[in-house]
Formats: sequence, structure tokens, C-alpha cells
Amino acid sequence: MTPAETTTGSNTPPSCVNPSTLAQAGACVGKRVGVSLLRFPASDPRYLQTFNREFDSFTPENDTKWDTAQPDRGNWNHQPGEELLAMVSKPVSIKGHTLVWHNQLPDYVNGINDPGQLRQMMRDHIREMITHYQGRMFAWDVVNEVVNEDGSRRNSVFQRVLGDGYVAEAFQMARDVGADIELYYNDFNIETDSEKGQAAYDLVSDLASRGLVDGVGFQLHIESNLYPGYFSPNAFRNWIRMYDALGLTVNISEMDVRIPSTSLQDLEIQRDIYYDFVRVCVEEPACDAITIWGITDNFSWQSNDDPLLYRENYQAKPAYLGVMDALTDPL
Ligand code: XIL
Repeated sequence: MTPAETTTGSNTPPSCVNPSTLAQAGACVGKRVGVSLLRFPASDPRYLQTFNREFDSFTPENDTKWDTAQPDRGNWNHQPGEELLAMVSKPVSIKGHTLVWHNQLPDYVNGINDPGQLRQMMRDHIREMITHYQGRMFAWDVVNEVVNEDGSRRNSVFQRVLGDGYVAEAFQMARDVGADIELYYNDFNIETDSEKGQAAYDLVSDLASRGLVDGVGFQLHIESNLYPGYFSPNAFRNWIRMYDALGLTVNISEMDVRIPSTSLQDLEIQRDIYYDFVRVCVEEPACDAITIWGITDNFSWQSNDDPLLYRENYQAKPAYLGVMDALTDPL
């Protein structure tokens, strides 16, 4: 027996003895590993080559958001989303992102004052998006980023006009479409031991008690300066277990790790942070997927802080090895 067979058992498929890509390694421990995708970087063939080689799932980074998909009331623009989906030729899991959010929301929505009108708009948007992508997206982030750092509700047109109940209303509208998809609440900093973490948990547990939600996305937009400290793998693990106890699935939905420089030291800290958080997901059965928010640093929404797994030239960074090791170290 080779050492690998001793540790992983003799039924281990060959690709799990020494996996050579993140998706292979993830499949061996039952986790999807993906990224967010944009359209414009695909003009460089290395973008999709890297995606196709390493990942088995994705989230549209912008192309299925409200301002893109319904730029004017009732005027549906699914072309960007369709083009994005068409870029990927192999079968992958796709999570839709995002239906009700305060950002990337057109002015015609922000200007509504009448609750009835806003409800109708929400219902129409949710129904159209879910229906349009039915059979292709296995899940949607139904409501995104509702809670402030102090645990209060974030100001938005939905909050102002409809009050606290709008979150449950949105999930109910998504359920009412009747599609066989998973419904997620998605937010950042909710993995921390904080008022925000608690408020998100309270919100989601109320939804769960009514059967309206299937899972929680932990964005994990991490700053290395706040680690260790505010960002803590142990706090993340505790929340995963709390959500698991509600019967929910969780995932890492938008991970990136901002670093102050690309010194070797900072790159190694970044690698360790990727390792520590991905490792928690690997160790916790309720966590079923890891999505990194982009492929190369230069196309990241935080491109100044080099937060991703690949350099501009598609060379893997130490961070890549952090994720790989987290997926492959013996459990
Ligand atoms: C970001 C995209 O990465 C950017 O390209 C865009 O300009 C703004 O939105 N939380 C989310 C994501 O849920 O949709 C955001 O994505 C990042 C923060």
C-alpha cells in the first residue's frame, strides 16, 4: 500500500490520491469549488482555461443583478447573463446572484414610495429571474446584505417602504415561484463574533422557522489586517454549526483576502487565511461549497489589495496552495 492509500482508503479514486486541481480536490471532500465570473476578462483565453481546469461552479459577478437584468421597469435584459452562461461549456453548478439588494439597483426602484407598487416590483423581478434561469441555476441569493455592523437593519428602499417584513416577503415570493431551487440569504462579516453575526442569525432563524430559507452564504470578504481578531475561523465554525442546527446548508460565497502589499510575508499571511477559513468549510459537513470572488487580482473588485488566488499573469499565488492544502490535508 502506498502512504496515500493508507490514509485515504483503498477505494479512493486515483484523482483523490493526488488531486491536481481545486475542483478535483473539492470533489474528494464533497465540496464544490468555484469563482465569480465576469464577461470581459474572457477575451484572454487564459481566463476560461483557468476556470475550466480548476473550478466546477460559479456565481455571476454582476450580470444577473437588478440594474443589468431589468434596467427599466418591465424591460428585461437577459443578454449579459446569457452571454456569461454561454462562455462556460462544461457542466457546472451556477448560483444566481442576487434578487433583492440595495446596490446596483436602478433609480426607478429607489424612487418608489408606495408599498403596493414596490411589492409588485419585487414580485415581478423575483419571478422573472428565477423562471428565466430555471433548470440552470440550482440556487439564488434571494436577499443580500440586510444587516448593519451594529445589528440594525440597513437603510434601503425596501426597508423604508416595506419595513422589516420585506425580507420574509421576498423569500415567500421566491418560494411562490415554485421552482426546485435553493434559496439563500447572503451577507458579509456575518462569520464574525459580533452584533452583525447575531442579527443575521436571528433574521435567518426566523425565516427558517417558516420554511422560507435553505441556506446561508458567508461572503468572507476578509482583510488580513483584522486577522487574527475580528476575522476568526472559530467564530465562523460556531455560526456554521448554529445554522446547521436550523437544518440549513451554508457556503463560502464570495471569498477574497485583502493584503496591504505583495511582500512574501503578506502573501504567506494571505495563504494562511485562505487555508484557515476554507479548512473550516472542509471540516464542517453543513458547508458544501467554496466560491472565490474572482480569478485574477487585476480583475478583482478590490484589485488594489491583491485578494485572489492568481496573479494578473494567471500564475497561482501562495493563496492557491492555501486552498489546495485545506482541501487535501487529511481530515
Ligand atoms: C461587486 C462586484 O464584484 C463588482 O464588480 C461590482 O462593481 C460591485 O459588486 N457583495 C456582493 C457582490 O454581494 O455582489 C459584490 O460584487 C461584492 C460585495
